[in-house]
Amino acid sequence: MTKKQTYVHIAPIYDLLDLPFESGRYRPIRRILFEGVHGTILDAGVGTGRNMPFYPPNGEVVGIDLSPHMLAQARKRKASLGITTELRQMDVRATDFPAGHFDYVVATFLFCVLDDEDQLPGLCELRRVCKPDGEIRLLEYTYSRDPTRRFVMRLWAPWVRLMYGATFDRHTERYVQAAGLRLVEERFLFKDIIKLLVLRPQ
Ligand SMILES: C[S@@+](CC[C@H](N)C(=O)[O-])C[C@H]1O[C@@H](n2cnc3c(N)ncnc32)[C@H](O)[C@@H]1O
Repeated sequence: MTKKQTYVHIAPIYDLLDLPFESGRYRPIRRILFEGVHGTILDAGVGTGRNMPFYPPNGEVVGIDLSPHMLAQARKRKASLGITTELRQMDVRATDFPAGHFDYVVATFLFCVLDDEDQLPGLCELRRVCKPDGEIRLLEYTYSRDPTRRFVMRLWAPWVRLMYGATFDRHTERYVQAAGLRLVEERFLFKDIIKLLVLRPQ
């Protein structure tokens, strides 16, 4: 199944499935992710718009997603929040934006969905559309080093792959240099399983 097909079926129930994680786990880290973010902002893989409540009020945000079904959910959230974010269907590997367009690029739980061979093209495109003095911030899952937690994650992995097309071991940071980026910060925001990567063009 392609990623686009995966997100046809899950779109109407995505928020419901994620609800326990959203309230306890994701909301505080989304807030941290958006600290200091301003200007022109790209939310790549915007999904149902879970980042929207944390967009800076004066920011000019564009959300893109491969899935029209996820974008339909995002449009509902946008309307309920009364914000002006632009939403467009685009593939993060090849967007329509001019080079150096965005001050900030954020992508939350997108690269854990992108297949291994799409990691570098995805990062290269984010670097292309980011201003030379701009910043890219990613939130990604990684397997815990704790044996018990890792075991539980391994039990969850087939479900996560089936429902979201995602895995916990994409190792996105390995592609950073090849994409012409440098890693300026890497830190865990939830236990040792959700990581913030801050990248800047080299
Ligand atoms: C796990 S969801 C995360 C959604 C949202 N960022 C969040 O934090 O809740 C991953 C999203 O990435 C989108 N996606 C997958 N492959 C993509 C691609 N190549 N280009 C753009 N979006 C993509 C999916 O349609 C889905 O909405």
